[in-house]
Amino acid sequence: MKRKSDALSALADRVRFFEEIGAGFLFRSEEPRPEAGAAGKTIVAGSPRPAARPAESGLDLPRVDRTLDDVSAEIRACRKCSLAAGRTKAVPGEGNPKSPLMFVGEGPGHDEDVQGRPFVGRAGQLLTKIIAAMGYERSEVFIANVVKCRPPENRVPHREEAEACAPFLIEQISILRPRVIVALGKTAVDFFVPNVKAMGAVRGVFQEWHGLPVMPTFHPSYLVRNEGNREIKRMVWNDMQKVMAFLGGK
Ligand code: URA
Repeated sequence: MKRKSDALSALADRVRFFEEIGAGFLFRSEEPRPEAGAAGKTIVAGSPRPAARPAESGLDLPRVDRTLDDVSAEIRACRKCSLAAGRTKAVPGEGNPKSPLMFVGEGPGHDEDVQGRPFVGRAGQLLTKIIAAMGYERSEVFIANVVKCRPPENRVPHREEAEACAPFLIEQISILRPRVIVALGKTAVDFFVPNVKAMGAVRGVFQEWHGLPVMPTFHPSYLVRNEGNREIKRMVWNDMQKVMAFLGGK
């Protein structure tokens, strides 16, 4: 009996996720997927690969005798690299300081730069939906970036910029001590995992950073750019399921 209700609730989670991120068509019989075959039967989106569940582990970085607000204040005053000159507002990050779940992106875009808040533009709205589909309010998790100031024209941050900003993210993680981090896109993956040639090499597989599990997945802006690509959505869902399984429910 329990098995059945687990399966139903997993299916409900999956349906909710696809509805949330605008891919509900995967579940509606009136809009059969091309792959559904001649009979046009709706096929429930592919079951995830078995989630490799990392052993529960603790962050092996020293505890820091500062608060997230202290770090945010220092970020707002920072002039350590040339990105500071072009910013409207620095974007330290935001969320629940006690959250077990942290998302790390690349760096602020236009909307984030104007508001001083992470992931509030189009990619951010999609991230918020993904978080909701995972069963969390946005305010329940913590969201930050590798660089805290907007790179010109939204270019990928240079290595020196990411390196200049790294102590802030390390300190934020040391204070937060989340149980798991989701690394959104290649810049975030590069922060946590050395020498990754391409996302495909690590996406969907828990990595370890100072004793902390890190799940690399695609950046929401990649999903936005490839809006019609169901396979990418499915991959992200599989990755988030592994994170949810690791957290084991709220
Ligand atoms: N993209 C990011 O990587 N971070 C943001 O905060 C917004 C968009």
